[in-house]
Amino acid sequence: MAYELLLLEISDRIATVTINRPDKLNALNDALMKELGAMMDELTANKTVGAIIITGAGRAFVAGADIARLAAAEPGELETFARRGQGVFRRIELSAKPVIAAVNGFALGGGCELALACHVRIASTLAKFGLPEVKLGLIPGYGGTQRLPRLIGRGQALQMILTGDTIDGAEAVRVGLANIAVEPDALAGAARAMATAMLKNAPVAIARAIESVDAGLDATLEDGLRLEARLFGSLEATADMREGTKAFLEKRPPDFRGV
Ligand code: COA
Repeated sequence: MAYELLLLEISDRIATVTINRPDKLNALNDALMKELGAMMDELTANKTVGAIIITGAGRAFVAGADIARLAAAEPGELETFARRGQGVFRRIELSAKPVIAAVNGFALGGGCELALACHVRIASTLAKFGLPEVKLGLIPGYGGTQRLPRLIGRGQALQMILTGDTIDGAEAVRVGLANIAVEPDALAGAARAMATAMLKNAPVAIARAIESVDAGLDATLEDGLRLEARLFGSLEATADMREGTKAFLEKRPPDFRGV
């Protein structure tokens, strides 16, 4: 697919996807959502890619779903609109390769929800996170009411959702929404450093870890533990498990092959 609203750069097995609609603060319109979904499928299938960074061009990460599009919605269309967007973000969340949000600026509404669907969030100190949908007579529709309370707890999430107020990068770290916050010019480097740290590890183990956390969050503790044991056991069949344990005992770095 030809991408008009996304930039892609791949180096050292890290794909950096830059949302590139800066004149509209990278607001998510239908074309952008379609490209994002296609990009995720492409990167998931690309064997030269081991980790993905999502960031925004200009002063925004993503300032939300395109409000002009919402205002023009046909009667009865909004539920489908939400389900379609949720589907795209779920593909990000279920990616077997780590997806890191490098939040450079406004991450509002759908932009905050996009960051929430990523596996980890690295924020610029200048980032502004918020779910301002209630100010528009809406609620978050791309997963915000579900992922935010799971991530930061019901009370903190409801404060953000019901006030619509924004918080900066440092506050996002304090409440557990962002993993770390760094100065703006250190953001790209910090995201790459985290991706590189993840890429040192066994790819199949990384995929199973993501799967175990994702499924476990919605399971009872007992079911989650059973799933974890099953996935743990499944790694027995991988050459990388043999290699990782052997390399440790031989006091050398492992040479993982992803099988
Ligand atoms: N949808 C559509 N267009 C958007 C947008 C969105 N979510 N967010 C910003 N834009 C557009 C603006 O309309 C403006 O376009 P224009 O130059 O053609 O008028 C452009 O991006 C720049 O935004 P502007 O509002 O002029 O910048 P600002 O610095 O004054 O304010 C924000 C920045 C982020 C505070 C403000 O744009 C905003 O509140 N955006 C909406 C955030 C939101 O409610 N998101 C949730 C949507 S569900």
